[in-house]
Amino acid sequence: MRQALSVASECAPLIKTGGLADVAGALPAAMLETGWKLRTLLPGYPSVIAALKRKRVVREDADLMGGPARLLEATVAGLDLLVLDAPHLYDRKGAIYLGPDGKDWPDNPERFAALSWIAAAIAAEGVGDWRPDVMHLHDWQASLAPVYLREMDAPAHVPSLLTIHNIAFHGMAPASRLEGLRLPPSGFQPDGFEYYGAINALKAGLVYADKLSTVSPTYARELMLPEFGMGLDGVLRSRRADLVGILNGIDESFWDPQTDPEISPFKSPKKKAVNRAMLIEEFGLAHTDGPLAVVISRLTEQKGLDLLLDALPAFVARGGQVALLGSGDAALEAAWRNAADGMPQVSVRIGYDEALSHRMMAGGDAVIVPSRFEPCGLTQLYGLRYGAIPVVAMTGGLADTVIRANDAALVADVATGFQFFPVTADSLADALGRLCDLFADKPAWERMQRRAMRHPVGWSASAPRYAALYESLGQHP
Ligand code: ADP
Ligand code: GLC
Repeated sequence: MRQALSVASECAPLIKTGGLADVAGALPAAMLETGWKLRTLLPGYPSVIAALKRKRVVREDADLMGGPARLLEATVAGLDLLVLDAPHLYDRKGAIYLGPDGKDWPDNPERFAALSWIAAAIAAEGVGDWRPDVMHLHDWQASLAPVYLREMDAPAHVPSLLTIHNIAFHGMAPASRLEGLRLPPSGFQPDGFEYYGAINALKAGLVYADKLSTVSPTYARELMLPEFGMGLDGVLRSRRADLVGILNGIDESFWDPQTDPEISPFKSPKKKAVNRAMLIEEFGLAHTDGPLAVVISRLTEQKGLDLLLDALPAFVARGGQVALLGSGDAALEAAWRNAADGMPQVSVRIGYDEALSHRMMAGGDAVIVPSRFEPCGLTQLYGLRYGAIPVVAMTGGLADTVIRANDAALVADVATGFQFFPVTADSLADALGRLCDLFADKPAWERMQRRAMRHPVGWSASAPRYAALYESLGQHP
Protein backbone atom coordinates (compact mmCIF):
# COMPACT_ATOMS: atom_id res chain seq x y z
CA MET A 1 0.00 0.00 0.00
CA ARG A 2 1.41 3.41 -0.97
CA GLN A 3 1.38 6.14 1.66
CA ALA A 4 0.34 9.79 1.46
CA LEU A 5 0.38 12.58 4.03
CA SER A 6 -2.67 14.80 3.63
CA VAL A 7 -2.23 18.22 5.26
CA ALA A 8 -5.28 20.36 5.97
CA SER A 9 -6.38 23.08 8.38
CA GLU A 10 -9.81 21.47 8.86
CA CYS A 11 -11.21 17.97 8.55
CA ALA A 12 -14.74 16.63 9.12
CA PRO A 13 -16.11 15.37 11.42
CA LEU A 14 -13.55 16.94 13.79
CA ILE A 15 -13.46 20.57 12.75
CA LYS A 16 -15.22 22.29 9.88
CA THR A 17 -15.92 25.75 8.49
CA GLY A 18 -16.60 24.74 4.89
CA GLY A 19 -16.24 22.18 2.13
CA LEU A 20 -12.49 21.76 2.60
CA ALA A 21 -13.25 19.86 5.81
CA ASP A 22 -15.69 17.55 4.03
CA VAL A 23 -13.16 16.78 1.32
CA ALA A 24 -10.21 16.28 3.69
CA GLY A 25 -12.42 14.02 5.80
CA ALA A 26 -13.78 11.94 2.91
CA LEU A 27 -10.61 11.55 0.85
CA PRO A 28 -8.84 8.93 3.03
CA ALA A 29 -11.66 6.37 2.73
CA ALA A 30 -12.10 7.11 -0.96
CA MET A 31 -8.37 6.70 -1.68
CA LEU A 32 -8.07 3.44 0.23
CA GLU A 33 -9.95 1.72 -2.58
CA THR A 34 -7.32 2.88 -5.05
CA GLY A 35 -4.44 1.42 -3.05
CA TRP A 36 -3.38 4.64 -1.28
CA LYS A 37 -3.36 4.99 2.50
CA LEU A 38 -3.68 8.57 3.74
CA ARG A 39 -2.63 9.95 7.11
CA THR A 40 -4.07 13.38 7.84
CA LEU A 41 -2.03 16.08 9.58
CA LEU A 42 -4.25 18.59 11.41
CA PRO A 43 -3.70 21.48 13.85
CA GLY A 44 -4.53 20.60 17.47
CA TYR A 45 -7.44 22.97 18.01
CA PRO A 46 -9.20 22.36 21.36
CA SER A 47 -12.06 20.40 19.77
CA VAL A 48 -9.60 18.19 17.89
CA ILE A 49 -7.50 17.45 21.00
CA ALA A 50 -10.70 16.73 22.95
CA ALA A 51 -11.77 14.14 20.36
CA LEU A 52 -8.55 12.10 20.69
CA LYS A 53 -9.30 9.15 22.97
CA ARG A 54 -6.12 7.14 22.78
CA LYS A 55 -3.13 9.14 21.59
CA ARG A 56 0.60 8.62 21.37
CA VAL A 57 3.28 11.31 21.30
CA VAL A 58 5.44 10.58 18.27
CA ARG A 59 7.54 13.73 18.03
CA GLU A 60 8.48 16.70 20.19
CA ASP A 61 9.86 20.09 19.21
CA ALA A 62 11.10 22.39 21.98
CA ASP A 63 10.42 25.49 19.92
CA LEU A 64 8.04 25.63 16.98
CA MET A 65 7.40 29.25 16.00
CA GLY A 66 7.37 30.54 19.56
CA GLY A 67 6.54 27.63 21.84
CA PRO A 68 6.83 23.88 22.41
CA ALA A 69 4.96 21.42 20.21
CA ARG A 70 4.12 17.74 20.21
CA LEU A 71 2.91 15.55 17.39
CA LEU A 72 0.16 13.14 18.44
CA GLU A 73 -0.88 10.00 16.63
CA ALA A 74 -4.50 8.84 16.98
CA THR A 75 -7.41 7.30 15.13
CA VAL A 76 -10.77 9.06 15.18
CA ALA A 77 -13.84 8.19 13.10
CA GLY A 78 -11.73 5.91 10.93
CA LEU A 79 -9.24 8.69 10.18
CA ASP A 80 -5.56 8.01 10.77
CA LEU A 81 -4.51 11.34 12.29
CA LEU A 82 -1.33 13.17 13.12
CA VAL A 83 -2.29 16.13 15.29
CA LEU A 84 0.02 19.06 15.92
CA ASP A 85 -0.44 19.93 19.59
CA ALA A 86 1.06 23.43 19.92
CA PRO A 87 -0.99 25.29 22.57
CA HIS A 88 0.64 28.67 21.85
CA LEU A 89 -0.74 28.45 18.30
CA TYR A 90 -4.03 26.59 18.53
CA ASP A 91 -5.32 26.44 22.10
CA ARG A 92 -7.65 29.43 22.03
CA LYS A 93 -11.34 30.19 22.09
CA GLY A 94 -13.06 31.51 19.00
CA ALA A 95 -13.25 30.41 15.40
CA ILE A 96 -10.31 28.60 13.88
CA TYR A 97 -9.17 31.42 11.60
CA LEU A 98 -10.78 34.41 13.32
CA GLY A 99 -10.35 35.95 16.75
CA PRO A 100 -13.21 37.24 18.93
CA ASP A 101 -13.04 40.58 17.04
CA GLY A 102 -14.05 38.79 13.83
CA LYS A 103 -10.66 39.49 12.25
CA ASP A 104 -7.96 36.99 11.26
CA TRP A 105 -5.78 35.96 14.20
CA PRO A 106 -2.70 38.21 13.82
CA ASP A 107 -0.40 35.20 14.01
CA ASN A 108 -2.22 33.14 11.34
CA PRO A 109 0.94 33.14 9.19
CA GLU A 110 2.90 31.47 12.04
CA ARG A 111 0.01 29.14 13.00
CA PHE A 112 -0.11 27.56 9.57
CA ALA A 113 3.58 27.94 8.73
CA ALA A 114 4.10 25.68 11.76
CA LEU A 115 1.69 23.12 10.30
CA SER A 116 3.54 23.25 6.98
CA TRP A 117 6.93 23.02 8.66
CA ILE A 118 5.90 19.89 10.58
CA ALA A 119 4.54 18.39 7.35
CA ALA A 120 7.94 18.92 5.72
CA ALA A 121 9.72 17.47 8.78
CA ILE A 122 7.50 14.37 8.63
CA ALA A 123 8.34 13.98 4.94
CA ALA A 124 12.05 14.44 5.57
CA GLU A 125 12.47 12.42 8.77
CA GLY A 126 9.43 10.18 8.92
CA VAL A 127 7.40 9.38 12.02
CA GLY A 128 8.89 6.25 13.56
CA ASP A 129 9.35 4.01 10.54
CA TRP A 130 6.47 5.60 8.59
CA ARG A 131 7.33 7.89 5.70
CA PRO A 132 4.97 9.24 3.06
CA ASP A 133 5.54 8.63 -0.64
CA VAL A 134 3.78 11.90 -1.43
CA MET A 135 2.40 14.95 0.35
CA HIS A 136 -1.11 16.13 -0.53
CA LEU A 137 -1.39 19.76 0.60
CA HIS A 138 -4.65 21.69 0.85
CA ASP A 139 -4.88 25.47 0.41
CA TRP A 140 -2.53 28.17 1.71
CA GLN A 141 -2.40 26.73 5.21
CA ALA A 142 -0.27 23.82 3.94
CA SER A 143 1.43 25.61 1.05
CA LEU A 144 4.79 26.38 2.62
CA ALA A 145 5.64 22.69 3.10
CA PRO A 146 7.55 22.26 -0.20
CA VAL A 147 9.62 25.38 0.58
CA TYR A 148 10.65 23.99 3.97
CA LEU A 149 11.29 20.53 2.56
CA ARG A 150 13.86 21.93 0.12
CA GLU A 151 15.83 23.31 3.06
CA MET A 152 15.79 20.05 5.01
CA ASP A 153 18.23 17.22 4.75
CA ALA A 154 15.88 14.55 3.40
CA PRO A 155 17.21 11.19 2.18
CA ALA A 156 14.91 11.43 -0.85
CA HIS A 157 12.62 14.02 -2.35
CA VAL A 158 9.01 13.59 -1.23
CA PRO A 159 6.94 15.13 -4.03
CA SER A 160 3.90 17.24 -3.32
CA LEU A 161 0.51 17.95 -4.82
CA LEU A 162 -1.18 21.21 -3.83
CA THR A 163 -4.97 21.30 -4.17
CA ILE A 164 -6.55 24.74 -4.42
CA HIS A 165 -9.94 24.80 -2.72
CA ASN A 166 -10.18 28.56 -2.44
CA ILE A 167 -7.79 30.97 -4.13
CA ALA A 168 -9.37 33.93 -2.34
CA PHE A 169 -7.16 33.28 0.70
CA HIS A 170 -3.41 33.77 0.22
CA GLY A 171 -1.94 33.65 3.72
CA MET A 172 -0.05 36.95 3.39
CA ALA A 173 2.57 38.17 5.86
CA PRO A 174 4.85 41.20 5.87
CA ALA A 175 8.45 40.66 4.76
CA SER A 176 9.63 41.42 8.31
CA ARG A 177 8.25 38.00 9.39
CA LEU A 178 10.58 36.07 7.04
CA GLU A 179 12.95 34.87 9.77
CA GLY A 180 10.23 34.08 12.31
CA LEU A 181 8.51 32.00 9.66
CA ARG A 182 11.79 30.14 8.99
CA LEU A 183 11.65 31.03 5.32
CA PRO A 184 14.81 31.11 3.23
CA PRO A 185 15.57 34.70 2.10
CA SER A 186 16.58 33.27 -1.29
CA GLY A 187 12.91 32.44 -1.99
CA PHE A 188 11.79 36.00 -1.36
CA GLN A 189 11.72 37.08 -4.99
CA PRO A 190 9.13 37.35 -7.76
CA ASP A 191 9.61 33.79 -8.98
CA GLY A 192 9.48 32.51 -5.39
CA PHE A 193 6.98 33.39 -2.65
CA GLU A 194 7.38 37.17 -2.77
CA TYR A 195 4.22 39.02 -3.80
CA TYR A 196 4.22 42.81 -4.09
CA GLY A 197 6.79 43.11 -1.33
CA ALA A 198 5.14 40.65 1.08
CA ILE A 199 5.18 36.90 1.75
CA ASN A 200 2.38 34.98 0.02
CA ALA A 201 2.05 31.42 1.34
CA LEU A 202 -0.29 30.23 -1.39
CA LYS A 203 2.04 31.52 -4.08
CA ALA A 204 4.82 29.48 -2.44
CA GLY A 205 2.78 26.35 -2.97
CA LEU A 206 1.86 27.31 -6.51
CA VAL A 207 5.53 27.76 -7.34
CA TYR A 208 7.19 24.95 -5.35
CA ALA A 209 4.66 22.07 -5.29
CA ASP A 210 5.40 19.44 -7.92
CA LYS A 211 1.84 19.40 -9.22
CA LEU A 212 -1.29 21.48 -8.71
CA SER A 213 -4.93 20.63 -8.76
CA THR A 214 -8.21 22.28 -8.05
CA VAL A 215 -11.65 20.87 -7.40
CA SER A 216 -13.33 21.07 -10.81
CA PRO A 217 -12.21 21.16 -14.45
CA THR A 218 -14.03 24.44 -15.18
CA TYR A 219 -12.44 26.16 -12.19
CA ALA A 220 -9.02 24.91 -13.32
CA ARG A 221 -9.56 26.88 -16.56
CA GLU A 222 -11.13 29.88 -14.81
CA LEU A 223 -8.22 30.18 -12.37
CA MET A 224 -5.90 31.14 -15.19
CA LEU A 225 -8.09 34.16 -16.04
CA PRO A 226 -7.61 37.54 -14.34
CA GLU A 227 -11.32 37.62 -13.33
CA PHE A 228 -10.91 34.50 -11.21
CA GLY A 229 -7.21 34.17 -10.37
CA MET A 230 -7.26 36.78 -7.56
CA GLY A 231 -3.88 38.10 -8.64
CA LEU A 232 -2.30 34.65 -8.99
CA ASP A 233 -3.58 33.86 -12.50
CA GLY A 234 -0.15 34.68 -13.99
CA VAL A 235 1.57 32.15 -11.71
CA LEU A 236 -1.09 29.58 -12.60
CA ARG A 237 -0.69 30.21 -16.32
CA SER A 238 3.03 29.61 -15.94
CA ARG A 239 2.19 26.21 -14.40
CA ARG A 240 -0.58 25.35 -16.82
CA ALA A 241 1.03 21.99 -17.67
CA ASP A 242 0.98 20.91 -14.02
CA LEU A 243 -2.58 22.02 -13.16
CA VAL A 244 -5.63 19.75 -13.35
CA GLY A 245 -9.21 19.90 -12.11
CA ILE A 246 -10.66 16.90 -10.24
CA LEU A 247 -14.26 17.12 -9.04
CA ASN A 248 -15.08 16.71 -5.38
CA GLY A 249 -17.33 13.88 -4.32
CA ILE A 250 -19.51 13.67 -1.23
CA ASP A 251 -19.64 11.07 1.51
CA GLU A 252 -22.51 8.97 0.20
CA SER A 253 -23.02 7.11 3.44
CA PHE A 254 -23.42 10.31 5.46
CA TRP A 255 -25.62 11.89 2.78
CA ASP A 256 -27.97 9.02 1.98
CA PRO A 257 -31.71 9.78 1.78
CA GLN A 258 -32.50 6.11 2.41
CA THR A 259 -30.66 5.85 5.74
CA ASP A 260 -30.20 9.45 6.97
CA PRO A 261 -31.20 9.43 10.67
CA GLU A 262 -32.10 13.15 10.56
CA ILE A 263 -34.97 12.71 8.09
CA SER A 264 -37.91 10.55 7.16
CA PRO A 265 -35.99 8.23 4.79
CA PHE A 266 -37.08 8.06 1.15
CA LYS A 267 -36.16 6.31 -2.04
CA SER A 268 -38.49 7.95 -4.53
CA PRO A 269 -39.03 11.72 -4.83
CA LYS A 270 -42.75 11.31 -4.09
CA LYS A 271 -41.79 10.30 -0.55
CA LYS A 272 -40.05 13.62 0.04
CA ALA A 273 -43.50 15.02 0.88
CA VAL A 274 -43.29 14.14 4.60
CA ASN A 275 -39.95 15.90 4.91
CA ARG A 276 -41.26 18.86 2.96
CA ALA A 277 -44.26 19.26 5.26
CA MET A 278 -42.05 19.04 8.36
CA LEU A 279 -39.61 21.58 6.93
CA ILE A 280 -42.42 24.02 6.17
CA GLU A 281 -43.55 23.73 9.80
CA GLU A 282 -40.01 24.05 11.12
CA PHE A 283 -39.46 27.29 9.18
CA GLY A 284 -42.95 28.66 9.81
CA LEU A 285 -43.73 28.83 6.08
CA ALA A 286 -47.06 28.12 4.34
CA HIS A 287 -48.24 24.83 2.80
CA THR A 288 -48.62 25.98 -0.82
CA ASP A 289 -48.37 24.51 -4.32
CA GLY A 290 -45.33 26.63 -5.19
CA PRO A 291 -41.72 25.44 -5.02
CA LEU A 292 -39.88 25.51 -1.69
CA ALA A 293 -36.22 26.42 -2.30
CA VAL A 294 -33.48 26.07 0.31
CA VAL A 295 -30.07 27.70 0.76
CA ILE A 296 -27.32 26.38 3.05
CA SER A 297 -24.26 28.55 2.88
CA ARG A 298 -21.58 30.72 4.33
CA LEU A 299 -22.84 34.28 3.91
CA THR A 300 -19.96 35.89 2.02
CA GLU A 301 -19.47 37.86 -1.19
CA GLN A 302 -18.41 34.62 -2.97
CA LYS A 303 -21.77 32.96 -2.49
CA GLY A 304 -23.82 35.64 -4.30
CA LEU A 305 -26.69 35.59 -1.81
CA ASP A 306 -27.14 39.35 -2.26
CA LEU A 307 -28.22 38.52 -5.82
CA LEU A 308 -30.83 36.14 -4.47
CA LEU A 309 -32.15 38.87 -2.18
CA ASP A 310 -32.78 41.00 -5.29
CA ALA A 311 -34.43 38.09 -7.12
CA LEU A 312 -36.73 37.20 -4.20
CA PRO A 313 -39.71 39.46 -5.05
CA ALA A 314 -40.09 37.92 -8.54
CA PHE A 315 -39.76 34.36 -7.18
CA VAL A 316 -42.22 34.98 -4.38
CA ALA A 317 -44.67 36.55 -6.85
CA ARG A 318 -44.58 33.25 -8.78
CA GLY A 319 -45.52 31.36 -5.61
CA GLY A 320 -42.00 30.39 -4.48
CA GLN A 321 -40.82 30.17 -0.87
CA VAL A 322 -37.25 30.24 0.46
CA ALA A 323 -35.71 28.77 3.63
CA LEU A 324 -32.13 29.90 4.30
CA LEU A 325 -29.58 28.56 6.79
CA GLY A 326 -26.31 30.44 6.96
CA SER A 327 -23.89 32.66 8.81
CA GLY A 328 -21.07 35.00 7.98
CA ASP A 329 -20.96 38.71 7.06
CA ALA A 330 -22.96 40.77 9.54
CA ALA A 331 -24.41 42.97 6.78
CA LEU A 332 -25.66 39.97 4.79
CA GLU A 333 -27.09 38.33 7.90
CA ALA A 334 -28.99 41.54 8.65
CA ALA A 335 -30.21 41.88 5.05
CA TRP A 336 -31.58 38.33 5.08
CA ARG A 337 -33.25 38.86 8.46
CA ASN A 338 -34.86 41.97 6.99
CA ALA A 339 -36.09 40.08 3.93
CA ALA A 340 -37.67 37.47 6.18
CA ASP A 341 -39.34 40.17 8.27
CA GLY A 342 -40.79 41.75 5.14
CA MET A 343 -41.89 38.61 3.28
CA PRO A 344 -43.83 35.74 4.90
CA GLN A 345 -42.58 33.48 2.07
CA VAL A 346 -38.98 33.83 3.29
CA SER A 347 -37.64 32.31 6.50
CA VAL A 348 -34.11 32.48 7.81
CA ARG A 349 -31.98 30.66 10.41
CA ILE A 350 -28.72 32.42 11.13
CA GLY A 351 -26.20 29.93 12.45
CA TYR A 352 -24.48 26.67 11.66
CA ASP A 353 -26.56 23.48 12.00
CA GLU A 354 -25.47 20.25 10.36
CA ALA A 355 -28.62 18.29 11.25
CA LEU A 356 -30.90 21.03 9.96
CA SER A 357 -28.94 21.10 6.70
CA HIS A 358 -29.92 17.44 6.14
CA ARG A 359 -33.58 18.14 6.86
CA MET A 360 -33.51 21.05 4.41
CA MET A 361 -32.11 18.93 1.58
CA ALA A 362 -34.72 16.27 2.29
CA GLY A 363 -37.62 18.71 2.43
CA GLY A 364 -36.60 21.25 -0.21
CA ASP A 365 -37.87 21.10 -3.80
CA ALA A 366 -34.82 23.04 -4.96
CA VAL A 367 -31.47 24.29 -3.66
CA ILE A 368 -30.17 27.67 -4.86
CA VAL A 369 -26.40 28.28 -5.27
CA PRO A 370 -25.86 31.68 -6.93
CA SER A 371 -22.07 31.89 -6.36
CA ARG A 372 -19.92 34.48 -8.13
CA PHE A 373 -17.18 31.86 -8.15
CA GLU A 374 -17.31 28.29 -6.87
CA PRO A 375 -14.29 26.00 -7.08
CA CYS A 376 -16.59 22.96 -6.72
CA GLY A 377 -19.43 23.44 -4.27
CA LEU A 378 -20.95 20.59 -2.30
CA THR A 379 -24.48 21.70 -1.52
CA GLN A 380 -25.64 21.24 -5.13
CA LEU A 381 -24.33 17.66 -4.87
CA TYR A 382 -26.33 17.04 -1.68
CA GLY A 383 -29.32 18.56 -3.51
CA LEU A 384 -28.95 16.15 -6.42
CA ARG A 385 -28.78 13.16 -4.10
CA TYR A 386 -31.83 14.28 -2.09
CA GLY A 387 -33.92 15.30 -5.10
CA ALA A 388 -33.70 19.04 -4.29
CA ILE A 389 -33.18 20.40 -7.79
CA PRO A 390 -30.10 22.67 -8.02
CA VAL A 391 -30.44 26.21 -9.39
CA VAL A 392 -26.83 27.27 -9.86
CA ALA A 393 -24.63 29.96 -11.36
CA MET A 394 -22.81 28.68 -14.44
CA THR A 395 -19.33 28.84 -12.92
CA GLY A 396 -16.65 26.49 -11.58
CA GLY A 397 -17.83 23.17 -10.23
CA LEU A 398 -21.45 24.27 -10.38
CA ALA A 399 -21.17 24.27 -14.18
CA ASP A 400 -19.55 20.81 -14.12
CA THR A 401 -21.97 18.99 -11.82
CA VAL A 402 -25.42 20.14 -12.96
CA ILE A 403 -26.87 19.32 -16.39
CA ARG A 404 -28.90 22.37 -17.28
CA ALA A 405 -32.53 22.12 -18.28
CA ASN A 406 -32.51 23.62 -21.75
CA ASP A 407 -35.09 22.31 -24.21
CA ALA A 408 -32.74 19.74 -25.74
CA ALA A 409 -31.72 18.37 -22.34
CA LEU A 410 -35.34 18.12 -21.24
CA VAL A 411 -36.36 16.32 -24.43
CA ALA A 412 -33.40 13.97 -24.12
CA ASP A 413 -34.29 13.36 -20.47
CA VAL A 414 -30.87 14.26 -19.12
CA ALA A 415 -31.35 17.59 -17.30
CA THR A 416 -30.75 17.62 -13.54
CA GLY A 417 -31.12 21.31 -12.69
CA PHE A 418 -31.04 24.96 -13.75
CA GLN A 419 -28.06 27.15 -14.55
CA PHE A 420 -27.91 30.88 -15.08
CA PHE A 421 -25.41 33.22 -16.68
CA PRO A 422 -24.34 35.99 -16.38
CA VAL A 423 -24.25 35.82 -12.61
CA THR A 424 -26.73 38.64 -11.99
CA ALA A 425 -29.98 39.00 -10.06
CA ASP A 426 -31.95 39.24 -13.32
CA SER A 427 -30.64 36.05 -14.82
CA LEU A 428 -31.10 34.27 -11.46
CA ALA A 429 -34.71 35.52 -11.41
CA ASP A 430 -35.14 34.12 -14.95
CA ALA A 431 -33.82 30.74 -13.85
CA LEU A 432 -36.17 30.73 -10.87
CA GLY A 433 -38.99 31.52 -13.31
CA ARG A 434 -38.03 28.47 -15.41
CA LEU A 435 -38.00 26.43 -12.22
CA CYS A 436 -41.56 27.58 -11.42
CA ASP A 437 -42.68 26.61 -14.95
CA LEU A 438 -41.26 23.11 -14.68
CA PHE A 439 -42.47 22.68 -11.11
CA ALA A 440 -46.03 23.24 -12.35
CA ASP A 441 -45.63 20.24 -14.72
CA LYS A 442 -45.60 17.52 -12.05
CA PRO A 443 -44.64 14.51 -14.25
CA ALA A 444 -41.74 16.44 -15.84
CA TRP A 445 -40.60 17.72 -12.43
CA GLU A 446 -40.60 14.24 -10.93
CA ARG A 447 -38.64 12.87 -13.87
CA MET A 448 -36.01 15.53 -13.26
CA GLN A 449 -35.88 14.65 -9.56
CA ARG A 450 -35.38 10.99 -10.35
CA ARG A 451 -32.55 11.80 -12.76
CA ALA A 452 -30.97 14.11 -10.18
CA MET A 453 -31.11 11.38 -7.54
CA ARG A 454 -29.38 8.94 -9.91
CA HIS A 455 -26.61 11.36 -10.87
CA PRO A 456 -23.27 10.05 -9.52
CA VAL A 457 -21.98 12.35 -6.76
CA GLY A 458 -19.59 10.08 -4.86
CA TRP A 459 -15.84 9.57 -5.21
CA SER A 460 -15.79 6.64 -7.61
CA ALA A 461 -14.68 8.72 -10.60
CA SER A 462 -12.42 11.19 -8.79
CA ALA A 463 -10.48 8.90 -6.42
CA PRO A 464 -8.75 7.05 -9.29
CA ARG A 465 -7.85 10.44 -10.81
CA TYR A 466 -6.13 11.48 -7.59
CA ALA A 467 -4.40 8.11 -7.46
CA ALA A 468 -3.09 8.59 -11.00
CA LEU A 469 -1.93 12.07 -10.05
CA TYR A 470 -0.14 10.82 -6.91
CA GLU A 471 1.55 8.18 -9.04
CA SER A 472 2.64 10.72 -11.64
CA LEU A 473 4.31 12.73 -8.86
CA GLY A 474 6.75 9.92 -8.28
CA GLN A 475 8.02 10.38 -11.82
CA HIS A 476 8.76 14.03 -11.20
CA PRO A 477 12.46 15.02 -10.96
P1 ADP B 1 -17.52 26.37 0.89
O1 ADP B 1 -16.50 25.40 1.27
O2 ADP B 1 -17.03 27.41 -0.06
O3 ADP B 1 -18.22 26.98 2.05
P2 ADP B 1 -19.01 24.06 -0.15
O4 ADP B 1 -20.31 24.01 -0.84
O5 ADP B 1 -17.88 23.33 -0.77
O6 ADP B 1 -18.66 25.61 0.04
O7 ADP B 1 -19.12 23.46 1.31
C1 ADP B 1 -19.89 24.03 2.32
C2 ADP B 1 -20.14 22.98 3.37
O8 ADP B 1 -20.51 23.60 4.58
C3 ADP B 1 -21.29 22.07 3.01
O9 ADP B 1 -21.08 20.82 3.62
C4 ADP B 1 -22.48 22.80 3.63
O10 ADP B 1 -23.57 21.96 3.86
C5 ADP B 1 -21.87 23.29 4.90
N1 ADP B 1 -22.49 24.48 5.46
C6 ADP B 1 -22.32 25.77 5.09
N2 ADP B 1 -23.01 26.61 5.87
C7 ADP B 1 -23.67 25.84 6.77
C8 ADP B 1 -24.56 26.10 7.87
N3 ADP B 1 -24.90 27.35 8.18
N4 ADP B 1 -25.01 25.06 8.58
C9 ADP B 1 -24.66 23.80 8.27
N5 ADP B 1 -23.84 23.47 7.26
C10 ADP B 1 -23.34 24.47 6.51
C1 GLC C 1 -13.81 25.67 -1.04
C2 GLC C 1 -14.71 26.12 -2.18
C3 GLC C 1 -15.80 25.14 -2.52
C4 GLC C 1 -15.28 23.70 -2.52
C5 GLC C 1 -14.60 23.40 -1.19
C6 GLC C 1 -14.03 21.99 -1.12
O1 GLC C 1 -14.25 26.09 0.20
O2 GLC C 1 -15.25 27.41 -1.93
O3 GLC C 1 -16.31 25.43 -3.81
O4 GLC C 1 -16.34 22.79 -2.72
O5 GLC C 1 -13.52 24.29 -1.01
O6 GLC C 1 -13.15 21.74 -2.17
